[in-house]
Amino acid sequence: MISTETSSSYPTNRFSIAPMLDWTDQYCRYFHRLMSKNTLLYSEMVTTGAILYGKGDYLQKDAAEHPVSLQLGGSAPLDLAQAAKAGAERGFDEINLNVGCPSDRVQNGRFGACLMAEGALVGDAVKAMKDASGLPVTVKTRIGIDELDSYEFLCDFVEKVKAQGCDTFIVHARKAWLSGLSPKQNRDVPPLDYERVYQLKRDFPELTIAINGGIKTLSDCETHLQHLDGVMLGREVYANPYILSTVDQQLFGCDKEPLTRFEVLEKMYPYIESQLSQGVHLNRVARHMLGLFQGLPGARAWRRHLSENGHIPGSGIEVMQKAASFVIED
Ligand SMILES: Cc1cc2nc3c(=O)[nH]c(=O)nc-3n(C[C@H](O)[C@H](O)[C@H](O)COP(=O)(O)O)c2cc1C
Repeated sequence: MISTETSSSYPTNRFSIAPMLDWTDQYCRYFHRLMSKNTLLYSEMVTTGAILYGKGDYLQKDAAEHPVSLQLGGSAPLDLAQAAKAGAERGFDEINLNVGCPSDRVQNGRFGACLMAEGALVGDAVKAMKDASGLPVTVKTRIGIDELDSYEFLCDFVEKVKAQGCDTFIVHARKAWLSGLSPKQNRDVPPLDYERVYQLKRDFPELTIAINGGIKTLSDCETHLQHLDGVMLGREVYANPYILSTVDQQLFGCDKEPLTRFEVLEKMYPYIESQLSQGVHLNRVARHMLGLFQGLPGARAWRRHLSENGHIPGSGIEVMQKAASFVIED
């Protein structure tokens, strides 16, 4: 029986928001955090090359984001170890390795989903990252790749990685086709197989197993949590972020009243002002908030006003206030 209490270990994978390239940047994470204090947030995937040799700062985050995991893309254990150490130094709470992304670019770098075929290497990488960072290291993976899609293959991969000290796996419950499908198609076309992930938990009860893929409601989360330790949601949270407002109550047993959508918006203003004063364009933050009023009368006008005006240089809070004036609160 899986406990419904908030785990005392930190961070907990009970409910998390998936790493999403170009979406779960620092601005998005700040916004999401306002609505749930227990949700584990993930960075976008950052490659070891970007961290070790890139010109930009790819590890930016705000202190308010905790708990937050840094997802790394790479395969060379030494590079991953260095990148994980950099993540620890910048205050991330967990390191996650991407073993699920099927894009060609990622395969050329020999990382992402194709690493499922190299369990021993992933194990070595996990150990190196743990030793170098001192942080928990988790792996986000698929249930298989190409023709390597038997349950035995998945177990063999998990066994090898577990042997090197990984005790938490987030499993996107569909396989990936490494050629023939785009990354976007690979998020929809291969069928979901939740039962396979449940079976994995039954066979590895000592591991923390979280499930991902196609989950849309908190009541679906509750169903999965009867079988598993955690759920990870991606696209649904991004499109309809206010779903987060009841996560703490419904999934973590907290009794604090959620903020209203307008209170969330109000709380974003000082943060946005401070970003604007550092030269960040309004749209870089506002684009993540388009779904805040989903389902309410005026939500479309809110989105339209922000989309049409948020990118104009010099746009400020007044654009958001005007956009919000179209929304009628429930
Ligand atoms: C725009 C976008 C970018 C993504 N980028 C990443 C990524 O950087 N790393 C990763 O592991 N998965 C990435 N994913 C996959 C998600 O983490 C998740 O596994 C997938 O969307 C399935 O979950 P969902 O059905 O709840 O969205 C991305 C998904 C989307 C939609």
